Amino acid sequence: MDVYDAVMSRRAVRGFTDEPVPPEVLDRVLRAAAWAPSGSNLQPWHPYVVTGAPLVELKKRAVERVAAGDAWDPSEYLQYPEPLRAPYCERRSAFGAQRYGDLGIGRDDQEARYRAAIANWDCFGAPVALFCYIDRTMGPAQWSDVGMYLQTVMLLLRGEGLHSCPQMAWAKVRATVDEILAPPGELLLFCGMSIGYEDPAQRASRTARAPLPETVTTLGFD
Ligand SMILES: Cc1cc2nc3c(=O)[nH]c(=O)nc-3n(C[C@H](O)[C@H](O)[C@H](O)COP(=O)(O)O)c2cc1C
Repeated sequence: MDVYDAVMSRRAVRGFTDEPVPPEVLDRVLRAAAWAPSGSNLQPWHPYVVTGAPLVELKKRAVERVAAGDAWDPSEYLQYPEPLRAPYCERRSAFGAQRYGDLGIGRDDQEARYRAAIANWDCFGAPVALFCYIDRTMGPAQWSDVGMYLQTVMLLLRGEGLHSCPQMAWAKVRATVDEILAPPGELLLFCGMSIGYEDPAQRASRTARAPLPETVTTLGFD
């Protein structure tokens, strides 16, 4: 797949089939993703890739916990600044309106929004999940390295005909994830990522992007 096609066809997919992902495909993706860049080649990513019985158990525990209305685990990092200032808050609102509009859920229907959000912890039906940890001593530059790594994984998945959804939602129940994955204490969960084949029946509309001049500054080209 052409690199532009990989970038343009990657979307946060929130509806997967239960078709298993061949282990050799994941192995190929993870071997290639290891070539993502990082400052001084620290490679500060610690992905745990889970399928089968452990993932079934993890989804079950997480969904039950969220459905029971348990409190979230205390945040180990700031997911969004408070308050989120313009233009970011408008972009977040536009995203929320589109996401829940696609599902036919009204703006003020918090109950329905909550029910839809629970699908996060079922990995939207995906048969594989990647949980990305980072050493808690790392700083913003290494978090950025981890982001590059995750995007590399997602683009390679496209090259294999697979889709993904990165999910900070998993950090909200990080203790439940840790129960199953048992990572060493120095690691902190950044996010999960659902991986699998898209269910076309559940396809949502594409998100938009800000016009280029809103985000890109160019100098000296004319
Ligand atoms: C670090 C990160 C965390 C995210 N967390 C979630 C999440 O918890 N649940 C979810 O449904 N989408 C999540 N997303 C997906 C974003 O909502 C999505 O990438 C964004 O709206 C742009 O849409 P697109 O990826 O389809 O282009 C996350 C994306 C990133 C990069």
